[in-house]
Order: sequence, then structure tokens, then C-alpha cells
Amino acid sequence: ADTLGAAAAEKGRYFGAAVSANHLGEAQYVATLNREFSSVTAENEMKWDALEPSRGSFNFSRADQIFDHAKSQGMDVRGHTLVWHSQLPNWVSQLGASDLRTAMNSHITQVMTHYKGEIHSWDVVNEAFQDGGSGARRSSPFQDKLGDGFIEEAFRTARAADPNAKLCYNDYNTDGVNAKSNAVYTMVRDFKARGVPIDCVGFQSHFNPNSPVPSDYQANLQRFADLGVDVQITELDIEGSGQAQAADYGNVVRACLAVSRCTGITVWGIPDKYSWRASGTPLLFDDNYNKKPAYDAVLSAL
Ligand code: XIL
Repeated sequence: ADTLGAAAAEKGRYFGAAVSANHLGEAQYVATLNREFSSVTAENEMKWDALEPSRGSFNFSRADQIFDHAKSQGMDVRGHTLVWHSQLPNWVSQLGASDLRTAMNSHITQVMTHYKGEIHSWDVVNEAFQDGGSGARRSSPFQDKLGDGFIEEAFRTARAADPNAKLCYNDYNTDGVNAKSNAVYTMVRDFKARGVPIDCVGFQSHFNPNSPVPSDYQANLQRFADLGVDVQITELDIEGSGQAQAADYGNVVRACLAVSRCTGITVWGIPDKYSWRASGTPLLFDDNYNKKPAYDAVLSAL
């Protein structure tokens, strides 16, 4: 196959990109998206501040632009993200515990119902653990007011809202075996043991010289898969250029393919010029949509 999506499909996987509604009017952007990718994640448009800017008042227009485009092209859609401390409107942070619980469950239910049956995987909770060696939960309105149980509650609410969506926990700096990924692992193991609904773990995989592709990446994906969940690479980008960057991308793809429950890979943008990383060239296409060596490495690894 000669596109990322088609090559991944031959391996039973999807190959996705984060998409921004701002760029859907740009012909080359859309042509590259449509040609290469089989799954789409809204880069910002399905976050809480975008969908429910004030309590109970939903605006799906930007998210639907991306969703409708993807569906018109036969692409799958990943949902990102329901419960996250960031890009969270102020009104949520100001609620007391009881109202916050109601608002969280209502947000999950309304958003998932809007796309019911149409989203292959949802990031139900994003980035709930601290960096570093503590293995502790990150401070957030949800954690601070509702306690550890907020994650379980969010997943139970999500299962009821759309039983066909795979429900994922998603985080960064969990790509290798370390204290943070151990903490997520312990949570997932506990959820599986107690029957809390969870189907997948997302590994954001934002790599740079300070945070390179870990040597135990595949082993880490595998230990999660062995708990009985799918794993997905959800926000891949790798700062660098040339053959070194290409080699890293190839290693990431091979790690996923070596784990039978690694069901797909999403890169966090299409051309370098639209990367969320302010500097650098972390993606597969240059600013003119030419394929980079990293692209060739991904395609040949698939
Ligand atoms: C980023 C977007 O790419 C930016 O456009 C936005 O300004 C901030 O969020 N982890 C996540 C993603 O889960 O939602 C983030 O996306 C990148 C880090």
C-alpha cells in the first residue's frame, strides 16, 4: 500500500491525525488528510471549553465540522477528551463538589450521546497523574473536590452513555516503564479486577531530546495489553529531523505492530507548520506537504 492509512489497514490498524477545523479550508491540508489517514482526532474542538463554554449550553459546530468531514471520507473518529484539567472552562472549576459531580456526568453523557455509536474510542479521562516519581494523582478540580473516585465514576458514566465506544485513559510520560506509568498500570489493573469499564489506554508519545522514545516502549505497551485492554498511540510527534527522526518514527511503528492489542497510531498534526510545538519539525510532512524521511520510515515500517 502507498498511503499510511492503507498500509496500516493491511496490518489491521488505523493511522490517524489530529485535525484542526481552522485548516479544513486549505486545499493541500485536506488533500493530504484525505489521502493518507484513516482516523481523525479533533485537536481542540471536542474539549470541554469548546463544547460546553457555559453550563448546559453546548456548541458542537466546530467539532461537527471535523466529524462530518471524517465521516464523509470514511474515516474513523477518536473522541478527545471528556474529563481533563486543561482547556476546562472557569465555570467548572468554580463549582462545589456536588455540582461538579453532576456537571462532569452531564458533560460526559451529553457529548457522548451527540456522537453515540459513531466514535471508535473516547479519551474519557486525560492526564490525571502527576509527573515524577510520586505516582500520585495530579491536582485538578476533579481530583481535589471528588477524590480518587472521579476516574471510575467518569468511566461508568461513559459506558452507560455509549456502550459501543472503547473507553480510554490517556496520558503522557507514560510511554516507558516508570513511576507514572506504574501508577496508571495499577489503576487499570484495579479497574479490570473490579469490573470498572475500561477498554484502552492511550499513550500520547510526545517525544523530544529530553524525552526520547524509551527503549522499553514496546514492553510497556505489552504489559498494559496483558491486563486485557487495547493500547493506542494517541498524539505522536517526535522533535528532530532527517534520518535520526525517521529512525525514531520507525521504532515507534514497529513497537505498536509487535503488540497485537496496539490497535492504531495517531500523529498530532499533519504538516510541521501546524504542530502545537512552537518550534521544531516533529511531524511527517514539511510545511509544503512534502513527505519527510520520517514519513518514508513510517510507511516502510507498516
Ligand atoms: C494541545 C493542542 O495541540 C494545542 O493546539 C492546544 O493549544 C493545547 O492542547 N496533550 C493533549 C492534547 O492531550 O489535547 C494537547 O493538545 C497536547 C498535550
